[in-house]
Amino acid sequence: MKKLMKSTVAALALGLSFGAANAQMAPFGSDDDLAYAALIWEAMQAQNLVGENAIKSFPYEGMAPHGAMLETFYSSAKIGDHMGALIVKRNYGPADVEVDQIIANPSKHLGAITVMYKREAGFDADNQNWFWAKFLPDGSLDKNPKGMGLAGKVAKGADKGCIACHSGAGGDDYVWTTDAPVGMAGMN
Ligand code: HEC
Repeated sequence: MKKLMKSTVAALALGLSFGAANAQMAPFGSDDDLAYAALIWEAMQAQNLVGENAIKSFPYEGMAPHGAMLETFYSSAKIGDHMGALIVKRNYGPADVEVDQIIANPSKHLGAITVMYKREAGFDADNQNWFWAKFLPDGSLDKNPKGMGLAGKVAKGADKGCIACHSGAGGDDYVWTTDAPVGMAGMN
């Protein structure tokens, strides 16, 4: 019993300090992260990766937590002076959605757009310097239950979320689908 209480107190203290740290130095969802995500959205618009005239590929069957059907595009984009790899995943639903329905009306079935953008060296050296973002189809950011925008180092240090799950991808680059685009010249 005593032991139990001790660990409860410790857990509470941990929760409190994490909460306090969150307000100031959360690894994602800061004003800078939101501003950077907006630049990524603009770059995607410029390349027709999102928006009304978005280029299409043939959707393929997906898996959780991404959509029932997916499209993935490998590109690169210049943000400020930095050129980095840009991987865009369109997540379609609901669970029983069919390819034909998506092809006929992509925007109706688009649930979210998840993005990895390779930032400059040192941005997040522990995690291959990826910037993570989850956009809703209108370009706004999806949010976690605390209301923090999903952009930046999502969710560094947590046992769930983009970084935790993608760290399990082979090849150490955090990319599940293929290793090819990230190693390409000039894209790191
Ligand atoms: C529980 C595991 C998991 C979580 C959490 C997760 N992903 Fe993924 N992600 C995957 C898997 C598996 C794939 C490969 C899916 C496929 O076949 O297209 C993938 C693919 C991707 C891709 C295409 C590049 C690649 O790695 O193949 C992007 C971009 C991406 N995810 C972004 C995100 C973002 C942004 C988040 C957080 C908001 C996130 N993911 C959270 C498992 C996850």
